[in-house]
Amino acid sequence: MKLLIIGSGGREHALVWKLARSPHVTQMWCAPGNAGIGSERLVKNGVPVECVNIGAEDLPKLLAFAQEKRPDLTVVGPDNPLALGMVDLFQKHGLRIWGVNRKAAQFESSKVFSQNFMEKYGIPTARAVSISAGQFTEESRLQEVRRFVMELGDRCVVKADGLALGKGVLICNNYSETYAAITGMLVGKKFGEAGKRIVIQEFLEGVEVSLHALCDGKTAKLFPTSQDHKRALDGDLGLNTGGMGTYSPTPFLTDAQLADVARKILDPFTRGCVAEGIDYRGILYPGIMLTKDGPKVLEFNTRFGDPETQVYLTRLENDFVELLDASVSGTLDKLELKWSAMASVCVVMASGGYPGSYAKGKVISGFDAANAFPRTKVFHAGTARAGEQIVTNGGRVLGVTALGDDLKSAQAAAYAAVEKIHFDGAHFRRDIAAKAL
Ligand code: AMP
Ligand code: GLY
Repeated sequence: MKLLIIGSGGREHALVWKLARSPHVTQMWCAPGNAGIGSERLVKNGVPVECVNIGAEDLPKLLAFAQEKRPDLTVVGPDNPLALGMVDLFQKHGLRIWGVNRKAAQFESSKVFSQNFMEKYGIPTARAVSISAGQFTEESRLQEVRRFVMELGDRCVVKADGLALGKGVLICNNYSETYAAITGMLVGKKFGEAGKRIVIQEFLEGVEVSLHALCDGKTAKLFPTSQDHKRALDGDLGLNTGGMGTYSPTPFLTDAQLADVARKILDPFTRGCVAEGIDYRGILYPGIMLTKDGPKVLEFNTRFGDPETQVYLTRLENDFVELLDASVSGTLDKLELKWSAMASVCVVMASGGYPGSYAKGKVISGFDAANAFPRTKVFHAGTARAGEQIVTNGGRVLGVTALGDDLKSAQAAAYAAVEKIHFDGAHFRRDIAAKAL
């Protein structure tokens, strides 16, 4: 099979690495890819993965490329091309593609859509109201919002409806912060189009975990648990980031509790999709808060998590091509997901300054020493080739991932590899997985 992978982050390196291990794959392109992706070779025939210089959101060029090369399957990593309708476009041109279509991508691209869906189908989530910029002058609507905010007390969460690079969620600690957040989005147009509608949610307290389920329109196969570390600094301090590290499994949910989550969230989700005519084929990644009243959905993502993918795919024992193919064909019920009993830990090494501004082009050394450890894989995110060298080219630079017999040894192995890697200004958290130990 010939495969085309879309994206350039750590998630996409993990996707490429795992797909390249399948004996079905004879040729692979990645658009646009990164330095690590370009260093992978297919297990079947040793052929290198070829990076193609087309951006992940340039749908016309991606379509033209696919029409020329005729991949047997295209696999989409990031949310933006999904929200832009890449899957619908490729299908219209008779090209087989894995990922959710535009209608299904709304679960991530519109928080108002998700909130309404969850309320309609009884999926446990935070209590919420939504309001649009156009309704900001309607006194009755404003009254309702005011009443709700008062009822919540000091703390609440204000979310821009649309995709805002992970920055559209504001946690407010008192009424004036809430008021500033609401007017900033609806009147001040702080997040542009994305903030023209907003959701105001109750603040949920508890432990946050990541879930993933592979879906084929009828069946949803739940992955084991994982946990991300979203803040930039140790002890969950500092600014929110795309994710500074993950581990899997988490001890915060037993297998029985995970089955309960599936019943309370995945079953009504799948039923709701069928009722609404949403053909959900791809990954569903709900962010969950384990509250004292049970698990509640914080948000739905419609693509693999980054860096959740790095820990999941190092534990996955199935042929990944067969899984994605079944997700497209609607035959997932015939497959069993198989996971290594080992634990996996991914530590993200970021550029100094991230998630604020940072420099690029810093030379990275130590790859050979880090990759020489057994059961360790250094996934690239923001990297590029500069002649013979590999240099930093983004905020999150690497995801150093290791398996271990238990979480503690996986953590030790990941940090041993991190110690071998150097670049100017490198920043990483030293407490990935510590909460679980
Ligand atoms: P989201 O993009 O909706 O997942 O929000 C980003 C982050 O904000 C989440 O990962 C949570 O850490 C936090 N968050 C979102 N909604 C809530 C909520 N209702 N209560 C508490 N924290 C939240
Ligand atoms: N791990 C956070 C995300 O992928 O959105």
